[in-house]
Amino acid sequence: MERKPVNFIKSILIYISRSKLSVVGGILLSVLTPVLLVCILIDIKGTVQNPYFGFLIYLILGPLFLLGLILLIIGLFMSRGKEDIGLFTFEYIAEQLARPGRYIRIRRHLLLSLLITLTTLFLVAFVSYTGYHYSESTAFCGQSCHQVMEPAYATYRNSPHSRISCVECHIGEHAQWLTKAKFSGARQIFAVLFDTYPRPLPQPITSLRPVRETCEECHRPEMFHGDKLYIKDRFLPDELNTHVQTVLLMKIGSGGYQGRQAHGIHWHVAEDHQVFYKHTDQAQEEIVQVWLQDEGQEIHYFKKPDNNEAMGAPLLAMARKMDCMDCHNRPTHIFRSADEALDEKMITGAIPPEVPFIKRQALALITAPYETSDAALQSVSRGLKEWYAANYPDFTGARKPLLDQAIAGVQQAYRENVFPEMHIGWDTYKNFIGHKNGTGCFRCHDGRHVSQNGQIISRDCNCCHIVLAENEPAPDVLHLLKQALADKQQP
Ligand code: HEC
Ligand code: HEC
Ligand code: HEC
Ligand code: HEC
Ligand code: HEC
Repeated sequence: MERKPVNFIKSILIYISRSKLSVVGGILLSVLTPVLLVCILIDIKGTVQNPYFGFLIYLILGPLFLLGLILLIIGLFMSRGKEDIGLFTFEYIAEQLARPGRYIRIRRHLLLSLLITLTTLFLVAFVSYTGYHYSESTAFCGQSCHQVMEPAYATYRNSPHSRISCVECHIGEHAQWLTKAKFSGARQIFAVLFDTYPRPLPQPITSLRPVRETCEECHRPEMFHGDKLYIKDRFLPDELNTHVQTVLLMKIGSGGYQGRQAHGIHWHVAEDHQVFYKHTDQAQEEIVQVWLQDEGQEIHYFKKPDNNEAMGAPLLAMARKMDCMDCHNRPTHIFRSADEALDEKMITGAIPPEVPFIKRQALALITAPYETSDAALQSVSRGLKEWYAANYPDFTGARKPLLDQAIAGVQQAYRENVFPEMHIGWDTYKNFIGHKNGTGCFRCHDGRHVSQNGQIISRDCNCCHIVLAENEPAPDVLHLLKQALADKQQP
């Protein structure tokens, strides 16, 4: 009786059929293998752009495939007729070897088993590797749980960090943070499935790995130096949407490096001037104690209470050592104010500034409260059309395309920053980089933090920047700079 490969496969099937577990496993495998292979091929070719596609392949089909494989193997080993599985036992091989002329068949069987084993190993490795990678991808983090992550993802996409992946800031390389992140990730998936996540998502987030380690992988503020010119473009809410500019000479400074003294704004990151603080609220906005360890000496500052302010609020948490996040808490999830969002669209031309009063009208519409995004977008469109029909009728006729473009731009400004479904309005997340509404730098630099011997954390405007122009049309200073350059270029 000659055993052909067909018989060989037949005998494997018989063994499988002896155990219910391996039957289930076998069915899973035979259904999933072709589906999975086709899906992976499609994914590699990049034909399907839907983020759920990756989720389906790597986090559902992949693990199911592994489950099938495990069931099959467990079933085989547990099956009763173990003694019959000649193929898998040494006795069988020994018996075959004992018979002359059988080597060829044995070799064929061994090769076949080896091939199956290797393919399986490869598939297992491939599925776990790609699954793992997929769980690290921006598509998974930012797009799978659409509603929850939309605010974070939308703001990320409009930020200078949109080319680095979420995990580069949120997880990092060390095994300890990796495990922590995967566990909290699993918890988050449950929160999404059962709809128990908080809206808006809380901040500051405490699970970020030590932030200096993270940011300093790419930025080294101790090596910064000197001042830098910041120009902010704004539009006034008048008929002409007058373009004005604010010019600041920002004292970026340095954390001190190779003999260079720490100075300016990044003085805070130097190791020999460590600043610690305690706060009384979750958002870290109410800072009541600050102390500075400066080359051996320690200065304590306490916040003077306002006349009508009850101080005694309990201190939250332990003392926090100041790091990048106390100023750059929004390096990538930058939620703009309504004003700034419109200015940004106008400077890029997404909202044409030649539409009269567009800044004023748009601002009124986008800052009204809405229940859903769709309601807001419709209201913007209807509101602007009605107002221009009544006041500037040529925008319903010949100049309609300009108005349509403006409407699209205003809607985009809204969509990028406000997420009613997640309870995120215009000012939900504060940015600490400047001193809008007295937060940010002014949480300490407000002239009210005083030490025992009367030193005050500076509120001098020139300590951080020199305001060269504030909301001026065509500021002199920029004119001078351009003039100086032109003079220099002329011999
Ligand atoms: C440049 C670093 C960086 C990158 C890249 C980054 N994040 Fe963040 N993310 C942060 C920081 C810093 C915070 C904490 C803000 C705080 O605590 O005030 C944060 C906060 C969050 C929050 C909490 C909500 C909030 O806005 O405070 C979510 C959710 C989030 N990130 C998701 C993502 C996703 C999804 C991606 C990729 C699409 C991503 N992040 C990419 C730095 C980053
Ligand atoms: C993987 C590298 C990487 C990491 C990690 C990273 N950044 Fe950046 N950062 C960049 C790149 C790239 C740019 C864009 C530079 C540009 O556009 O000129 C940038 C730009 C910036 C800017 C300038 C933004 C602007 O408007 O010009 C700031 C501020 C900044 N990052 C802060 C941070 C902070 C704070 C962290 C830590 C939470 C961080 N970065 C983490 C790579 C990184
Ligand atoms: C005391 C607050 C503060 C701290 C702490 C701080 N920064 Fe800054 N940083 C600023 C300000 C203010 C600017 C300039 C204004 C802006 O970017 O809007 C700036 C600018 C930057 C820039 C852009 C520089 C450029 O030349 O364009 C980078 C990158 C940066 N910071 C990274 C960091 C990193 C990384 C850390 C932590 C090691 C850090 N900063 C700590 C306040 C701070
Ligand atoms: C947690 C409190 C705290 C916050 C927040 C804070 N600072 Fe400071 N800063 C200090 C202390 C304390 C000093 C040292 C006392 C002083 O010089 O007045 C200081 C000093 C400075 C100095 C002078 C450095 C030097 O050369 O002596 C600058 C510039 C400065 N801060 C800029 C900023 C900017 C810009 C921000 C916001 C982006 C900011 N700080 C936020 C606590 C803080
Ligand atoms: C502790 C440092 C610090 C002090 C003190 C300070 N500022 Fe600022 N200021 C900043 C930073 C940082 C920004 C930039 C924020 C940004 O990049 O958007 C800023 C931005 C500004 C802007 C531009 C705002 C905008 O976006 O249009 C003006 C105007 C301004 N400051 C005026 C003042 C005046 C007036 C004082 C004195 C009462 C003062 N600042 C004190 C740090 C400081």
